[in-house]
Amino acid sequence: MRQIVQLHFILLLFFFARLSAQSIPLSPPIEAKIDSIIRLMTLEEKLGQLNQIGGTWYDDKTERLNEEQTALLRQGKIGSFLGVMGAEETGRIQRIAVEQSRMHIPVLFGYDVIHGLATITPIPLAEASSWNLSLVEQSAHMAAVEASVVGIHWTYAPMVDIARDPRWGRIAEGSGEDPYLSSVMAAARVRGFQGMNILDDGSILACAKHFAAYGGAEAGRDYNTVDISERTLREVYLPPYKAAVDAGVWTLMSALNEIGGDPSSGSRWLMTDVLRNEWGFNGFVVSDYTSIQELINHRIAKDRTEAGIIGLNAGVDVDMVSRIYMNEMIDAVRSKKISETIVNESVRRVLRVKFAYGLFDHPYRNSDPSKGPNVLLSSQHRALARTIAGESIVLLKNENESLPLSKKTKTIALIGPLAGNENKRELLGTWAWTDKPDIIVSVVDGIRSKLGPTAKLIYEKGCEIESDSGARIEQAIKAARQADVIVAVLGESQHMSGEAASRTNLDLPGRQRELLKALVKTGKPVILVVMNGRPLTIQWETEHVAAVVEAWHLGVETGNALADVLFGDVNPSGKLPVTFPRNVGQIPHYYNHKNSGRPFSETDKYTSRYIDSPNEPLFPFGYGLSYTTFQYSNLTLSATNITKGQTLTVSVDVENTGKRSGEEVVQLYLRDDVASVTRPVKELKGFKKISLNPGEKKTVAFTLSPDMMSFYDLSMKRVIEPGTFTVSVGGNSVDCIQSQYTVGE
Ligand code: NOJ
Repeated sequence: MRQIVQLHFILLLFFFARLSAQSIPLSPPIEAKIDSIIRLMTLEEKLGQLNQIGGTWYDDKTERLNEEQTALLRQGKIGSFLGVMGAEETGRIQRIAVEQSRMHIPVLFGYDVIHGLATITPIPLAEASSWNLSLVEQSAHMAAVEASVVGIHWTYAPMVDIARDPRWGRIAEGSGEDPYLSSVMAAARVRGFQGMNILDDGSILACAKHFAAYGGAEAGRDYNTVDISERTLREVYLPPYKAAVDAGVWTLMSALNEIGGDPSSGSRWLMTDVLRNEWGFNGFVVSDYTSIQELINHRIAKDRTEAGIIGLNAGVDVDMVSRIYMNEMIDAVRSKKISETIVNESVRRVLRVKFAYGLFDHPYRNSDPSKGPNVLLSSQHRALARTIAGESIVLLKNENESLPLSKKTKTIALIGPLAGNENKRELLGTWAWTDKPDIIVSVVDGIRSKLGPTAKLIYEKGCEIESDSGARIEQAIKAARQADVIVAVLGESQHMSGEAASRTNLDLPGRQRELLKALVKTGKPVILVVMNGRPLTIQWETEHVAAVVEAWHLGVETGNALADVLFGDVNPSGKLPVTFPRNVGQIPHYYNHKNSGRPFSETDKYTSRYIDSPNEPLFPFGYGLSYTTFQYSNLTLSATNITKGQTLTVSVDVENTGKRSGEEVVQLYLRDDVASVTRPVKELKGFKKISLNPGEKKTVAFTLSPDMMSFYDLSMKRVIEPGTFTVSVGGNSVDCIQSQYTVGE
């Protein structure tokens, strides 16, 4: 415990201040400089700035630019790279751009630093479960600091796509299903990556992606069609991108999907009308990987030339990998199929970002090889990774206080394919770049380090994650029989979530349920730890084990963080950022749904329900237990009648009624009871994470602003309508206390 308090102290010193991001300064002298540069550039050089090549993901130690790429660089035909890192290698490439190309314009190095670079932190969905914005911001900043010492200027993160369908593997990369939670997480991550000042060492450019609504893929199948109304788009899917823009994000990535017939990477409405004209964004937009070329597959372009014209006209400034802007757009401009002014505008945005990032003054800013060793995987970074991993864990069930475990437990059987050292890479989750499994703390090692000298730990894998072969269920049962308690660590491998990893079956894969059934049969108490990149359908499991710990994929400190929670050194405080369905048939299942004309009724068949499954999810949005208990009382509103445009203060008392100190996420939901368009049954409008000692009571206050009471009316204008509103406050989206107020004219 003392060790953990010390770690907290180090972290506080290390990340001493709350970071805040700046948006790109629009400086007249810089804009004038950009004008003069553009005037001097050939068409090829201009299109070069809009061309991003790469995709080979290499660093100092592996391959180098080939001859063709080097030649393009010298000709000024490359504006940025994807997937190249290493202080030396990026410095070498930058030298070619700056010293050997005619215009001497530095290049940008972009990389997918999604949840840490060397110090891999929990997957974003897990971090969102912490509901701790300060920690999430620190985590993003740590990723930026590590990225910046290996030559990276720009990360393709945060992913801010709302996901209501856990079949979609990329749900792991975002903050779940809720627009409000995802928006504040998006802003925290932008602040973290871009830092207090983008010119500071350790700040890198963020890129909010995938604009827009990539997570709305039909049937949860990656890259599939999205067809949602403008209302749902604006109310549910767009808010997190807007929040990223408001937080000062300098780049966005256009998505691979279409929305109602309009592919995002060719959508002038999205990229120009909404993003620039409505939201005032003045950075640049990069396409997703080959998404300009894919406009041909979407069948809105008959060939590469048309695809490029559509993309550029839409306002997608940089073409990732397709090489269409660099090649086909030369003739397209010369033959006046597209105006050079459009090209100039995109070049201006790219150069603006390069200027503002300081590259013209310091082109080698992130390429000092002496910095890496002191920064990557430093003890401070590991300590932060451990803290955030601990807060990302969600306790879903704890019958008879089976947890926390005593460090003096005589014999623990640790079973499962994700518990040992052989599969520890899987603990990192999607988008984790490391070839050094040694840096990962496995569950077996984490638990062993907690146990006293007399305790015995027996480990058995039991079965593989996915495959049928190699099962050792018999041996696992033998181990389990000798133990006082069984800890089963089951779930998904790294590659089962993330990009191109959609699933139709969300049960524990392979023979893992069979293994768990056999463990349950021994009659010993079973603690189930689930590691996954998405909600899994674990109804049977939940009903048959003593405790369920949702651990997600927690990164390099998995074993330590999990052991902190299992043995009570850290009291779990995570809450689900996404609904856990009982079965795949309930999907999509989200808490902020509409009421419908026939809302569910226990007694009436002809209401919105299933004949073979309950409507309720297995675990609702916002749910998570603690080793202590909290009681909510005294919900008070500053007024019961307000007029349109007034704010309201809501306060509630929260008391720790258990025996341990703990943290609680106090959540506030709002419902507009009757409106001219249908409104969700409730919507999260605020939350606060508080700490309480046993017996301590705190009053938590929220401000409800007029904007929070407003919605889009039938003509898509934002309005507040008179009538009653219901306020619900509680520790999850279901168990709340309520009050009502009225908004008058
Ligand atoms: C495709 C993915 O959709 C995107 O998220 C990623 O940033 C790019 N590839 C670059 O790796």
